[in-house]
Amino acid sequence: MTTATFSMQRIDPYSPPAEHLRLQQEAPVSQVPWRNDTTIWAVTRHADVRTVLGDARFSSDRSLPGHPTFAGYTSASKLKNLIEMDPPEHTQQRVRVMGEFTVKKIAAMRPRIEQIVEETIDAMLASGTEADLVEALSLPVPSVVIAELLGVPFEDHSLFQENSAAFVEADATPEQRMAAMGALKEYIGGLVADRIERPGDDILSRQLAAGAPPEELTALGFLLLIAGHETTANMISLCVATLIDKPELLQQLRENPALLPGAVEELLRYFTIAEVGGLRLATADLEVGGVLIPAGDAVFALCNTANRDAEVFPEPNTIDFTRGARNHVAFGFGPHQCLGQNLARLELEIVLEAVIRRIPTLRFAGTFDDISFKEWGPNYGVYRLPVAW
Ligand code: HEM
Repeated sequence: MTTATFSMQRIDPYSPPAEHLRLQQEAPVSQVPWRNDTTIWAVTRHADVRTVLGDARFSSDRSLPGHPTFAGYTSASKLKNLIEMDPPEHTQQRVRVMGEFTVKKIAAMRPRIEQIVEETIDAMLASGTEADLVEALSLPVPSVVIAELLGVPFEDHSLFQENSAAFVEADATPEQRMAAMGALKEYIGGLVADRIERPGDDILSRQLAAGAPPEELTALGFLLLIAGHETTANMISLCVATLIDKPELLQQLRENPALLPGAVEELLRYFTIAEVGGLRLATADLEVGGVLIPAGDAVFALCNTANRDAEVFPEPNTIDFTRGARNHVAFGFGPHQCLGQNLARLELEIVLEAVIRRIPTLRFAGTFDDISFKEWGPNYGVYRLPVAW
């Protein structure tokens, strides 16, 4: 039975949608209206969200009839990718690529990411005394990082970057977005073909050597871009906006830079930007939090309310850089847990450290209230962040 509406309205930019928080208190596992006159099970508590995401019988296979696919970027792909597969297909692909994203491998990227961030900030500061931080810093950094991860040659960086920016541009028409997506897919397909001829020291060449079929690699390359670009960019913008809006938090980081990794973790928990990361389809009758979810029903594991569950995170609405909450689900949980999480953490840490050190006078060009937030995204974030220094 449907017990509630399912509004995405937020009380303020720092809180998950009010309706989701209400459900967590009053009906933590309940059926709510979904798109096209269907319903979906909203699962809101931390433990129950982990139950859903940890069990692949809650399927990620978007080709299954009734799967509550969000009409976002990945569904536009004809090639099925990692995030829309179930075991054993998923396990096979994931195991093959996992070694590229270990803490050690990603830590080795630090000097190069630091250089990318310094150069991006140099360009931003050289451009004047005001900028849209999204365009000047948040989007370029993850785009260049992914380009280098994929082994995009330097001369193609601008093509890659322009198309990845066009793909997520706030004002883009669907046609412009599709054109950018087409160009990127074609480019990545060409890159894979090139690596078959001329293997290099990059992820695509290593995956080919490990037996990955070329089509699978094109889908993977594209997934890495769409999963790692706008997400990281949104987090960079939200973190910087928060530090400008709440000077006492900024001051803590200035006084004690060792707090930075904890701050990144806490802000990941707090914003939990991957709004639709937990969409699944029950492939068997399965119990969650004492409620039976019948096979064939759509399920939405809400990571943003899970990360505000007071039973797991005391005073969940307070930003506490010393919380040490590594058990948050901002990167999901279970078999599909974010492959790029170590990279995302590293990028965020490096960017925030550099912004704090290099732009001490950074402020909003307007006010916090002027910022327009992306709601009901695929990802929460900001469209533009006008700043001055
Ligand atoms: C999966 C969040 C950055 C690559 C996921 C999932 C979440 C997530 C919630 C799970 C989706 C699901 O269960 O269906 C984030 C956030 C990021 C971020 C919040 C930034 C702050 C990145 C980066 C990369 C990346 C930088 C790589 C360059 C992936 C991939 C998957 C994934 C490949 C699919 C894994 C699988 O299905 O096995 N991400 N992500 N992500 N993410 Fe991220």
